[in-house]
Amino acid sequence: MKTLTSCASGSPARLLSVAGYRGSRVVSNHEFCQWIDSSDEWIQQRTGITERRWATPDETVLQMAAAASRDAVQRAGISLDNIDALIVATVSHQQQSPALATALAAALGLSDVPAFDISAACAGFCYLIELARSLVASGAARHVLIAASERLSDMIDITDRSTAFLFGDGAGAAVVAAADTPGISPAVWGTTGTNVAAVGIEPWPDAVAKRQAFPHIVMDGAKVFRWAATEVAAKALEALVAANITVADLGVFIGHQANSRIIDAMLRRLALPDHVAVSRDIRIQGNTSAASIPIAMSAMLEDGSAHCGQLALLVGFGAGLSYATQVVTMP
Ligand SMILES: CC(C)(COP(=O)(O)OP(=O)(O)OC[C@H]1O[C@@H](n2cnc3c(N)ncnc32)[C@H](O)[C@@H]1OP(=O)(O)O)[C@@H](O)C(=O)NCCC(=O)NCCS
Repeated sequence: MKTLTSCASGSPARLLSVAGYRGSRVVSNHEFCQWIDSSDEWIQQRTGITERRWATPDETVLQMAAAASRDAVQRAGISLDNIDALIVATVSHQQQSPALATALAAALGLSDVPAFDISAACAGFCYLIELARSLVASGAARHVLIAASERLSDMIDITDRSTAFLFGDGAGAAVVAAADTPGISPAVWGTTGTNVAAVGIEPWPDAVAKRQAFPHIVMDGAKVFRWAATEVAAKALEALVAANITVADLGVFIGHQANSRIIDAMLRRLALPDHVAVSRDIRIQGNTSAASIPIAMSAMLEDGSAHCGQLALLVGFGAGLSYATQVVTMP
């Protein structure tokens, strides 16, 4: 099995663990179609989604992030005392300040560690991995806890048939640690500099003016689809070059779980061999933005479709338009 060679400067880093948390309410397409003019058949054909997971009122972004984080630390075989930094990705934390990461640190009993949020939407988890890898590479940290948590069911106009049925709730977390050999390649990451508003969340003042409880997700679905299937897929090919591997070396592909047809288009563009296990977690989870990749990764390890030590290509993309893609060794 191919391993990542020395593909970045500084101390090598790897994922020690990953964990996922799914909102506990299952919302089927049939249930959803009471709110929009659609059908189970249309949603399945156009997106691959059969059901999505939504959080109950008790499953806040904090509670879900804490549950995933505790599991990730436990699976890493370390204690919370070992954590040197905590970084959280979210677009659905309902408070501008303080950061969700500070509340998560308090909930976990962490003190005197840097704890801060990033906002990179559905690219968030891949951004977190790159940030954590960089902290380890620079020597600033040996163990970094990264977490992503989203309650997108709060942020949808449930009657909007062009967006509402896509989204779900959940969290994921991982521990990135110093290692003897590299287990994370340098990310190919960035923003396009165009189509900034193709997908995002409307401004709070607009939501207040419309007397909504929360701002809603708005997007030009076709535009996002085309960009992801072509330009982001090309970035994923660059990530393989940056990792000094080819598609033949991969064991796993985990794209952001936005639409099964986007995943299909990426597979065609990347020409992945048949032996590569591909996550289709969107089928039962919906799109959970930054949380989608760690939830999918954890599920593949749990159901045996992926194994520790395999090389996985991760591809995150979303609002901004932001993307990040890298190769990791499965924890
Ligand atoms: C939203 C998305 C599923 C729409 O699928 P699509 O195949 O592009 O569908 P279109 O918008 O072109 O609509 C096709 C037809 O289906 C209809 N339609 C749209 N939504 C529908 C729904 N929920 N149920 C039934 N029909 C629907 C349209 O009215 C249109 O009908 P027409 O051909 O008679 O005009 C798809 O564009 C998508 O997933 N885009 C990416 C979005 C995304 O990932 N966003 C987050 C990024 S992080």
